[in-house]
Amino acid sequence: MSNPTGQPDLFSKFDDVIALREGLLASGVEDPFSLVMERVISPTVAMCNGRETILLGTYNYMGMTFDPDVVAAGKYALDNFGSGTTGSRVLNGTYSGHKDVEAALREFYAMDHAMVFSTGYQANLGVISTIAGKGDYIVLDIDSHASIWDGCKLGDAEVVPFKHNDIEAMEKRLKRIPEGAGKLVILEGVYSMLGDVAPLKEMVRIAKENGAMVLVDEAHSMGFIGENGRGVVEDQGIIDDVDFIIGTFSKSVGTVGGFCVSNHPKFEILRLVCRPYVFTASLPPSVVATAATSIRKLMHAGNKRAHLWENSRTLHGGLKALGFQLGTDEPQSAIISVIMPDLERGAGMWEALLKEGLYVNLARPPATPANMTLLRCSLCAEHSAEQVQTIISMFERAGKTAGIL
Ligand SMILES: Cc1ncc(COP(=O)(O)O)c(C=O)c1O
Repeated sequence: MSNPTGQPDLFSKFDDVIALREGLLASGVEDPFSLVMERVISPTVAMCNGRETILLGTYNYMGMTFDPDVVAAGKYALDNFGSGTTGSRVLNGTYSGHKDVEAALREFYAMDHAMVFSTGYQANLGVISTIAGKGDYIVLDIDSHASIWDGCKLGDAEVVPFKHNDIEAMEKRLKRIPEGAGKLVILEGVYSMLGDVAPLKEMVRIAKENGAMVLVDEAHSMGFIGENGRGVVEDQGIIDDVDFIIGTFSKSVGTVGGFCVSNHPKFEILRLVCRPYVFTASLPPSVVATAATSIRKLMHAGNKRAHLWENSRTLHGGLKALGFQLGTDEPQSAIISVIMPDLERGAGMWEALLKEGLYVNLARPPATPANMTLLRCSLCAEHSAEQVQTIISMFERAGKTAGIL
């Protein structure tokens, strides 16, 4: 396809996606990727299309977004430090709040260093591309998050993917790397599409035996998994063996931002050499204030963690009993994925749930593994036991309406 000047249209590469989207909307289903939250009532309820809707598709795992201390900290910072920093962390963009949230992260993880980025996406982009460059090797799970893949691309290292959660495949790839080359293994604690946990203990042991540094993205486990909410690395007893933990404020912490924590003695140099840290404005004061308050509260959130596990077990058991096909045999995290036969029926089921008053994520390739269409349910520690029962009933009715059950 060309534009009126006869030049190639740079948008022609999107024609397949445009056709897929138009085909879906032509079937009469509501656009699953344009839903508007008209008003947010609590961490678990919002108004969508004028209807009160239970939220089961947010990353608000620990329900901190309306915590009164968190909200008060944000308001105080807004009043006393203004709406934004208008500058990079290495120039005018480091306020006392940025130092404080980094201190909160060091306390939370009991680690020596913490560096905050404007998003989790940028934390992966920045750390990976800066530490693994030309001539180095990155060995990573094929189902890694887009921000990990993009970090690899930006850094120009040799990228060697292995089959999802396959320990042997990872070891084979590591052993083939030329002697003397720098090696980085990248893993995630919880994989967000199916909600499955990685066998990190074994993988980290093998990575270390083969002389690799290890980076673990704990975006979907922070706050929830592990005795102190430090993630799968804590739960599997290997937090001291990993070199870098990447995380985000956009999930359990309940705001926006990303970070890396580490005990590496030279870690602080990243503040001067990591381009996605240097060449962007720092987070607004209100955001870092809410994050610091939330992180410190998450250190003492054992009861919330226990309730969230209860919710996860109840929903998993309830959906399985109804006959839905789920992403994992047992509940492994706060994410429960329901596998749909195809995109059309997945979108139909998504819409039927919305009409019931339930919002879940519709996930499809390329975000999903093995070309799957998923209805991704993310539980919150603020979902009551009654809400979880209501959700199961909604799935039953919607499943029948959409012809899935
Ligand atoms: C595994 C993983 N890493 C990083 C990110 C990026 O986080 P953020 O929303 O802070 O950019 C996500 C977001 O979904 C994620 O799932």
